[in-house]
Amino acid sequence: MTGLQAGVAIRRLGPEDAELFNRLSEADNLFDEDPSGAPSGALTPDGARAFLADPSVLFWVAESGPLTVGFLHCIVQRRRTAGPWAELLLMEMGVHTEWRRQGVGTALVSTMELWMAGHDVLEVWVPANTYAVGFYLKSGFTPDEGAILVKQLH
Ligand SMILES: CC(C)(COP(=O)(O)OP(=O)(O)OC[C@H]1O[C@@H](n2cnc3c(N)ncnc32)[C@H](O)[C@@H]1OP(=O)(O)O)[C@@H](O)C(=O)NCCC(=O)NCCS
Repeated sequence: MTGLQAGVAIRRLGPEDAELFNRLSEADNLFDEDPSGAPSGALTPDGARAFLADPSVLFWVAESGPLTVGFLHCIVQRRRTAGPWAELLLMEMGVHTEWRRQGVGTALVSTMELWMAGHDVLEVWVPANTYAVGFYLKSGFTPDEGAILVKQLH
């Protein structure tokens, strides 16, 4: 966690953090590449609690005192084949625009890797924004073959 400012701490959220989680969701545009977009918006209190209670959800926040300055959200994906029982899919991460390039993103990824090491999970995938590719390469990710596709039902 070299470079992380003193006073920034990282912790995993649980169902008891539903209120904080919803406050973050109402302002998470400030953690996007382009903060002028709309935030994701809050879940219902029960929805937020259920999300954070789901054992396949890993949601960490970086905090400086009362401020949330970064977050990282993964899902635990159980594997079909022999070898490690699961892998991670890094769904989303963001560092508040005013807190970038201060080691917060690196510290969040290190926290995820500690969790992986403690749970016999050896691989993590990320569908990365173009903007963030440099960060992921610096964090030790490597490009994979193929393309990520998406289909939306209307
Ligand atoms: C990508 C992001 C999470 C990085 O967080 P961060 O806290 O700024 O990252 P760090 O300070 O730990 O950066 C570590 C190193 O990664 C590299 N890096 C960080 N951001 C980078 C960027 N946008 N482009 C290229 N390299 C980058 C740098 O080498 C940096 O080290 P340096 O500052 O000493 O040069 C942050 O820029 C962000 O929230 N971006 C908007 C949301 C986003 O794109 N999320 C990813 C979705 S897939």
